[in-house]
Amino acid sequence: YNLFDIIYSGTAKYLERAEKDVAKAIEEKGRDAEAKLPDTAYGLATIYAITGEKLLTVGDLERGIEMAKEHINRTNMLADALEAGVAAAMLCEIIQACKYLDGNPHPEWVDGALTDAVVRSFGVALVTQDIPGVAVIIGEHKDPEQLAKTIKSYQNKGLQTYLVGKCIDQARDQKIKMGVDLRVIPCGYEIEDVINVVSVAVRASIMFGNTPAGEWEKHRIYTRDRVFAFVNVFGDWDDKIIAAGACAIDMGFPAITETYINEVPTLLLNQPDLTKTDATSLEARGIKIKVTEIDCPVSVSSAFEGERVRKDNMKAEFGGNRTKAWELVHTVELGDIEDHKITVVGPDIDDPQFDGVDVVRIPFGLEIKVAGKAMQSDFESVLERRLHYFLNYIEGSMHVGQRNICWVRLTKEAFDAGFRLRHFGEVVYAKMLDEFGKVVDKVEVTIYTKEEDVVRLEEELVRPIYNVRDDRLNSLTDESVDVFYTCTLCQSFAPSHVCVVTPERLGLCGAVSWLDSKATKELDPTGPAQPIEKNGVIDERLGAWEEVNDVVAKCSQGAVEKVTLYSILEDPMTSCGCFECICGIMPEANGVVIVNREFGGMTPTGMTFGELASMTGGGVQTPGFMGHGRHFISSKKFMAAEGGIERIVWMPKELKDDVAERLNKSVQELYGIENFTDMVCDETIAVDSEAVLEFLTEKGHPALEMDPIM
Ligand code: SF4
Ligand code: NI
Ligand code: NI
Repeated sequence: YNLFDIIYSGTAKYLERAEKDVAKAIEEKGRDAEAKLPDTAYGLATIYAITGEKLLTVGDLERGIEMAKEHINRTNMLADALEAGVAAAMLCEIIQACKYLDGNPHPEWVDGALTDAVVRSFGVALVTQDIPGVAVIIGEHKDPEQLAKTIKSYQNKGLQTYLVGKCIDQARDQKIKMGVDLRVIPCGYEIEDVINVVSVAVRASIMFGNTPAGEWEKHRIYTRDRVFAFVNVFGDWDDKIIAAGACAIDMGFPAITETYINEVPTLLLNQPDLTKTDATSLEARGIKIKVTEIDCPVSVSSAFEGERVRKDNMKAEFGGNRTKAWELVHTVELGDIEDHKITVVGPDIDDPQFDGVDVVRIPFGLEIKVAGKAMQSDFESVLERRLHYFLNYIEGSMHVGQRNICWVRLTKEAFDAGFRLRHFGEVVYAKMLDEFGKVVDKVEVTIYTKEEDVVRLEEELVRPIYNVRDDRLNSLTDESVDVFYTCTLCQSFAPSHVCVVTPERLGLCGAVSWLDSKATKELDPTGPAQPIEKNGVIDERLGAWEEVNDVVAKCSQGAVEKVTLYSILEDPMTSCGCFECICGIMPEANGVVIVNREFGGMTPTGMTFGELASMTGGGVQTPGFMGHGRHFISSKKFMAAEGGIERIVWMPKELKDDVAERLNKSVQELYGIENFTDMVCDETIAVDSEAVLEFLTEKGHPALEMDPIM
């Protein structure tokens, strides 16, 4: 074969289909009809990245085809052939947009085109390498069981796997757990649907990298260097698959094929031995995975973090208001602990007394003793909060909440596979040493399941420790400490972004508190958390310090020279793209609107979360818009320079309810207003600007009386 012939022929087929689909759309809907993919601020994101143009209507799609044609220039040079692959991607996106003209075209188990919010939700996991890579599987596998093994292999390593084509049904038949939360994501049955994963990579470049639209060369470099994706093609290939593969190669994603096509060193590889697909792929993309051996009968992987355990599939349940449950990490002397000792005190879930019981519900006290020369009591809560993740990583286990409101469920499959309480201990033991080995030398786990023990220990041991910790947390203010910390973790995706983490302002992803940073510094002295001495106050009201500016300038390689910690208008902190919430000014209400990533509806600013989010990100400062964590909403430092939390006029109901208790307490303490959230509007009351104003006026919202916000 001539590889180039194949690519050009595949591209021609996409062109033919796109022309047909668009002609049909023009005839049926007219050129002015809206043509868009679900909840995205970028029109057709790939075409936007390539050309700088947002296509929004059916008429635009027609123009898109013309733009795609410009990339098809038949020569016998590899660069031009890859360029035809870029055209193929553009045409696939146009075809996808046509598919979505009448709503979601995919069956219910296929995720299809992902929304901006979903792509943003991958941010933290990608930067922490919790998701170490992205696999794209195309075609039909000749051995469905081997396919399942390959997918499981990726899932067990935490990778995201996208499925295109018949492999979706094969994976379903093999009972692979699928969905965005389980990191196995069906894109669609047609090869054209591969654009849905291309779009994710491209949007990472736009959202986190702030790569300018229209500068495709820069996007290519971004995806090549920062998105660790690769492609597996199973079964026979055809020219459309190869044309799509050319685009993948252009973006720096190697393709590993079962059937020999040709070789492009490091980028197009042949691996006929299907038991080796995973290993060859990881090696080709340079993905190294650290494996920790854990004595546990089910998989333990970050890919299972989002797994839900439903009632009809539940074998055991602890806590969640049904039984008493708590979890505690506390420090003891090195001499008072036996490393790797795991004890279950009380009946296990397979105790004969539970024979014939449908769901085993027993009390659950999870006590983890740790000891280490570098351990500090401040780190206990940091370690304890990780329990939520460790227990969720277990395939078939779901953990919700924390401390003495924790709630754990276990599936029947996990039980049948032999999972018992002691395995919680094994997982916690291994993970604690894995992540915190620098400060923890020994770990001992005890699980209590007798009511009297769980109740007694909660009073005698657990609550007193929680209380001491709460007092410490309450006393931690920006004024009470000498150092703040940088967090530069997101620089792997947003190269100039720096979070400044203070006791009253956690990182904008919501995952990094000041105590976390303090622990991170200890664990990784030259890592992402570096102390910033609070030297050289410039303006207390704005939260401006010379030392903060110097460190931020250094960490951002000069891209950002000044940041304030308490203002959203004057040199606000940058946003990287993975923020939990974004706030934006609503001038007519003299306040701000906050919207969280999960909220898909419209806001009174006339923009959705995705649209607001697209105003900022990539490590740039955008006065008036700022990404932040959920917890920051109740902070007394939240936009303190502009008057603070009293300025909040609108939030989605779910977010409002979530932060109400803490927000109301802070507002009460600062301004003496009771039940402030009753004055804050939400989507169930009004979204339209005028109606929101009416509501605020009726409630006497304080923002209306404050100095003009701008
Ligand atoms: Fe990224 Fe900031 Fe969170 Fe660090 S604190 S992971 S830089 S968002
Ligand atoms: Ni789980
Ligand atoms: Ni980030």
